Amino acid sequence: MPTPHSLVSATHTDFELEVVAGTWPTDVGGEVVFSSPQNSRTLPYAIFDHGAICRLSLEAGTRGAAAERFAWQSRVIQSPGKRLFDRHPEVFASGTIGYLSPFGPPNCSNTAPLPWGNRLYTTWDAGRPVELNPDTLEFVAEVGHADTWGGSSMEMPGVLPFLFSSAHPVADPQRHCLWTVKLDLVFEPTPGMRPSLVRYDRDDGTSVRFWPLEGVSFGGSIHTISQTRDWVILSDSGNFKADSAEMMGGERTATTDDEVPVWLIRKDALEGLASGTPIKPVQLMMSPPAGHYYARWDDTDGISVVWEGMDLMDLGLYMRPDDHDVNGNPVDPGVVGLYNMAMAPETLTEIVFDPETGTVLEQGRFKQDWTFNLQLSAMDWSTEGLSKPTLHHVTYQGCRPGSISARAARLYEGRIDLDQVREETPGALCSFDRGSMELKARWEYANLSDHITSPAFAPRGSAPGRYEGGTPGGHDGYVVQPVCSDDGFRVDLFDAARVGDGPVATLAGTKRECVPLVLHSAWMPAFHGLADAQRLRFSDEVTAERLASVPEELHSAIHEVARECDELF
Ligand SMILES: [Fe+2]
Repeated sequence: MPTPHSLVSATHTDFELEVVAGTWPTDVGGEVVFSSPQNSRTLPYAIFDHGAICRLSLEAGTRGAAAERFAWQSRVIQSPGKRLFDRHPEVFASGTIGYLSPFGPPNCSNTAPLPWGNRLYTTWDAGRPVELNPDTLEFVAEVGHADTWGGSSMEMPGVLPFLFSSAHPVADPQRHCLWTVKLDLVFEPTPGMRPSLVRYDRDDGTSVRFWPLEGVSFGGSIHTISQTRDWVILSDSGNFKADSAEMMGGERTATTDDEVPVWLIRKDALEGLASGTPIKPVQLMMSPPAGHYYARWDDTDGISVVWEGMDLMDLGLYMRPDDHDVNGNPVDPGVVGLYNMAMAPETLTEIVFDPETGTVLEQGRFKQDWTFNLQLSAMDWSTEGLSKPTLHHVTYQGCRPGSISARAARLYEGRIDLDQVREETPGALCSFDRGSMELKARWEYANLSDHITSPAFAPRGSAPGRYEGGTPGGHDGYVVQPVCSDDGFRVDLFDAARVGDGPVATLAGTKRECVPLVLHSAWMPAFHGLADAQRLRFSDEVTAERLASVPEELHSAIHEVARECDELF
């Protein structure tokens, strides 16, 4: 079976779900939010399309749903770039890495939701975090005036800045700030991207501060930021490389790295340091590359990190209509525009970084023939849970040869074991012990037409507005496992301590509705209303100089969008 056609054909709509199996527990609450690229089919690679936010309420009868029913809502993220796109789609050129326009590149913010206290953000790697109203899900503001980010990542005209950043900033519960990065194109010491660590303090969204990493330039991206109490952890993700030949219409030759640099920065070192001042990180090397990694907050015994390896997962590769798959079959139209899936089983590792000696100590490792397409996981994000994590839940989507192109196999000749990727394997939701990475539980999705996607952990019995449940760590609560299928979208709910027993309850749309591709998810308590804070207005960035870089016939659209956005908060 290929991945469900509905991943690319379903549209974003609101609908209601009902319990179709098991009993929905009374001690689960809050909601799960998802990010999704809309896939308007105007781009060759759908993951660069304008973002939407989806929300599943875990409490029946809330967010407008009928009694005994659960609300699914979806809203397009109306960033200034999206508003300009809607007025002048004809001036937006589509390329292999997204849209470009005389306005500048739009912030598509389509990759991950980021709840932070009573605030909700969405993120992506090629734009600033975007704040949404956690009640209505409507766009509120982008974070930090472009000038305070140090200007665009590379010079280009327009009123929309190009800020190459991270899809996974991290919220610091002690300093009440968000840590993320900005990447700048540099030519010294080598041509590449120079990262800066970026700090956004939650009460003032008009500005951020940044500190360039002295002497660092590299060829990849920083998809995830992680932290302990005292350290920020950055890494070259190694698995997304923009290919300049491909961008010009040629064939792709760039491949992922086998080993990537990790940079550690002491938070204290930034106290009182003026924005823009270079800082020297501790650098070490890790293998394999990882898109996602999560440190334990408590670093008394070292910087302990779950490293979700992306062995031979090249997110720069996407499926083209003229592609054949790794078995020589023409690719299914249902996978065109989606990413080329994993070409090897993935390695999950728990490690301890020692910043004093620059060494990496491995504590546990898990890899089996079936551990394909580890991309998404669920954990307890409360500060208490992050301090003493117990279980780490991972969704493996299984091997999907129909989503591995022959082109990719040629590009990875010598690195790919073709015998290992000939057959489809089932997906599975698994729970691992933190520390040892011992497999504690596994629930297999034997039906190959089920495409399981981003899971989320909901703590048991959390009070409204609180992230904490009963016993923190990841075992006392529920794992929400969404299942995409052409037979209708389902949500399986597992007892987090007993994933191997199977779902305790399942939801499905009352009309067997399907859901399009969603990427990351997150659990959050239900919030109503918009928090008071200083926020950036788009109009503050529309200076006379920036306006003058845009053709005059487009100015009225800019003024309209600026007026509209001024009314948002
Ligand atoms: Fe991600």
